[in-house]
Amino acid sequence: MPNLAVVIMAAGKGTRMKSKLPKVMHKIAGKSLIEHVLDAVSQVGTERPVVILGYGRETVEKLVSDRCQIAVQAEQLGTGHAIIQALPYLDEKDDVIILSGDQPLLKPETLLELIRLHREHKATATVLTAMLNEPYGYGRIIKNGQELERIVEEKDAAPEERKIKEINTGTYCFKVLELKEALSQITPKNSQGEYYLTDVFNIFLAKAAKVLIHCTLDSNEALGINSRSQLAEAEKICYERVRQHWMNEGVTIVDPASTFIDDDVKLAPDVCLMPFTIIKSKTEIREDAVIGPQVLIESCICGEGCEINYTVAREAVISEGCKVGPYAYLRPGTYLEANVKIGDFVEVKKSHISAGTKIPHLSYIGDAEVGKSVNIGAGTITCNYDGFKKSPTKICDHAFIGSNTNLVAPVEIGEGAVTGAGSTITENVPAKALAVERSKQMIKNQYVKDKK
Ligand code: UD1
Ligand code: CA
Repeated sequence: MPNLAVVIMAAGKGTRMKSKLPKVMHKIAGKSLIEHVLDAVSQVGTERPVVILGYGRETVEKLVSDRCQIAVQAEQLGTGHAIIQALPYLDEKDDVIILSGDQPLLKPETLLELIRLHREHKATATVLTAMLNEPYGYGRIIKNGQELERIVEEKDAAPEERKIKEINTGTYCFKVLELKEALSQITPKNSQGEYYLTDVFNIFLAKAAKVLIHCTLDSNEALGINSRSQLAEAEKICYERVRQHWMNEGVTIVDPASTFIDDDVKLAPDVCLMPFTIIKSKTEIREDAVIGPQVLIESCICGEGCEINYTVAREAVISEGCKVGPYAYLRPGTYLEANVKIGDFVEVKKSHISAGTKIPHLSYIGDAEVGKSVNIGAGTITCNYDGFKKSPTKICDHAFIGSNTNLVAPVEIGEGAVTGAGSTITENVPAKALAVERSKQMIKNQYVKDKK
């Protein structure tokens, strides 16, 4: 949108969070509060937004600096003081949207409507408000018809004013020039000794400037995170929005109440999510996959039609038609080609498993390259660690690994080779050979004496 700047206030510590993290770094649905706000703003289509940072600046800057400009507020003297630090980044001819980094549920369409109204009415400022049954803690809106008179903070409000249910969401649109003039006149004469941004409205009132109110119908958008309980409340709403979104896109969610999908996850139509399933980070799940019950999956790709149940998987690729679980653990660097079977109590780490291979029970496969259509018997272990370093195991196509084989790495099992059950394999096995490593069975007859 032309001639529109965006400023996000995020310098505060968030004292009430009682955390070493700056407030806007806390996450809901797998994404920090500041990223939620930046994502909403990005859909408004402006130039790089200005983010005001102060407390814990380095941490936040690392996360966001490639998508915004940073203004610094070294001391947090209030929201008005914060915006003064951002003025050098603004053009007096523009409008600016101001919002808070601690308001993750704001929707892009609401921002677009705010600007539309602001411009249509040629307002000096437009304030986004909401009606709350429990307005405690928010600035209250005192108005005359549709025009704002002033905003009074909870701590400065008279008992009658505290009963007002319409609150300031902390999101506004201003004409930059008039905002700048008004900010030069605000003072910290209030109960918190802060420079309040909201005091500019007193100045606008005195000069009879036009200030509009836009009340959002979704009061959740107003939720500003100041405490851990508000963080939990916002996360619950965010997860519900994500579930609704994917159900609208054709995903079956058998039990929405026990299914949690992070904001960055991508699901295809006809994916089916069974109960007690948590899908985190940038996971992508393709058509007809059935995930759950009881799955925790993070940063994975799950191919078409794969089935995963009672499983934990992280940073793994699970190709089309794979069957995983119950009780499998896929660790980072696992790559399963099509139609691989990973069964119960199998752990796979940093290994490439080629198409059609089966690892059905009780195995540990780490740092391995496993060929096509290999069968790995129950209890097989790749002994990849000698206490000092990790070594690789290679198992070629069509090999048959007998139950309870120990493969002491580095070692290679040739194409179509067989290992005898219970063998500890320390040397390479040629293609099509049988390797057995077992001591000869001994029989002691009449070993057990009959009891009298
Ligand atoms: C503010 C509003 C209040 C509104 C509420 C909505 C003021 C004076 N009050 O109150 O009317 O109902 O938001 O959530 O503006 N920040 C800075 N620098 C500072 C102070 C704050 O960058 O010096 C940032 C914070 O990091 C936060 C945002 O501004 O992202 C809001 O600050 P906060 O202290 O949470 O304001 P509220 O008391 O909630
Ligand atoms: Ca707040």
